[in-house]
Amino acid sequence: LDNGVSRTPPMGWNSWNHFWCGINESVVMSTADALVSTGLASLGYKYVNLDDCWAESERDENGKLRGKTSTFPSGIKALADYVHARGLKLGIYADAGNRTCSNQMPGSLHHEYEDAKTFAQWGVDYIKYDNCYHDGTRNRERYIAMGHALQKIKRPIHFSLCEWYFLQRNCIFLRGQEDPAKWAGAYGHSWRTTGDINDTFASVTWIADLNNRWGRYAGPGRWNDPDMLEVGNGGMTMDEYRSHFSIWSLMKAPLLIGCDLRSASNRTLRILGNKEVIEVNQDSLGVQGRKLRSKDGLEVWAGPLSDNRVVVVLWNRSELRALITAAWRDFGLSPNTPAIVRDLWKHKSVSMNKRDRLTASVAPHACKMYVLTPLQS
Ligand code: GLA
Repeated sequence: LDNGVSRTPPMGWNSWNHFWCGINESVVMSTADALVSTGLASLGYKYVNLDDCWAESERDENGKLRGKTSTFPSGIKALADYVHARGLKLGIYADAGNRTCSNQMPGSLHHEYEDAKTFAQWGVDYIKYDNCYHDGTRNRERYIAMGHALQKIKRPIHFSLCEWYFLQRNCIFLRGQEDPAKWAGAYGHSWRTTGDINDTFASVTWIADLNNRWGRYAGPGRWNDPDMLEVGNGGMTMDEYRSHFSIWSLMKAPLLIGCDLRSASNRTLRILGNKEVIEVNQDSLGVQGRKLRSKDGLEVWAGPLSDNRVVVVLWNRSELRALITAAWRDFGLSPNTPAIVRDLWKHKSVSMNKRDRLTASVAPHACKMYVLTPLQS
């Protein structure tokens, strides 16, 4: 949506991938503190997002949503104040149906304006809008209802559409639904392109490929959302987490940390805090990088950056160490164009003998990530 919000992909943290429904205000407050103390906030991670299960199971006597008193005794407004006082922003979760996906709290269907107003009064800056327990009417209409409500209340709020039912588009009930990439950018700032991620390398490769299909619909203010990060949750190797983070950054995905930041290891923080990789994600051109080639699990992904630069990821999805090569012509550069090649994980410029290709030996499930800056020849 072209209203000045999220001109680059949103960055922050979300509770779901690590805590599921087990959230409370002390977890959220200490995570906000951790974002600041680890330095991640100053690298751009600004949103602190509650996912499902933050509300009482029923609306109050005035029909309003309210924070669950057993876990959020101070209320959501106090939480927003806490987060804002640290220079951060608060996100919340709601649903375009009668109940949210956990079935533990009410949905916002037919309460869109009222709930948008409540969120704005609390000082909410981001809404993730899910699609469970709906009434079978078209996704698009139910999402647009919340989009319109958010436009009416006039607070700049990132509207994240968690609408992935198109994955089951062959299902008879869903015939005639349109893929969100094709319409959601007129109403919101990001939309899910896949089902839920999990903390495995198989999930990362599956989701990367699905999200890759919608690349041309992304741009400033409108991003494909391949779901939140699993980096630091323990199910993958560091090489796999580096690949996950590199490809999400290249695809201009929202970078929403999904681990417990209060106990994150230095190795996890070094991945999430790689400034050069984050700069690729936040590049002002806002073009989603894509997969250019794949053979036997050896892949070349690339995309344009501002100032005629190019980002390249050489990704080895196979089980054996292998050489991967990308040629200048893969990215539209003519052979013999000299270029500075910067390795974003080694943090150094690598000297190249050739001026027409890039070759690296890549460990299984690992990747190399480079920015090429062509020089005038
Ligand atoms: C859906 C979403 C997830 C998460 C859960 C919460 O599955 O896709 O990201 O928000 O609901 O119940």
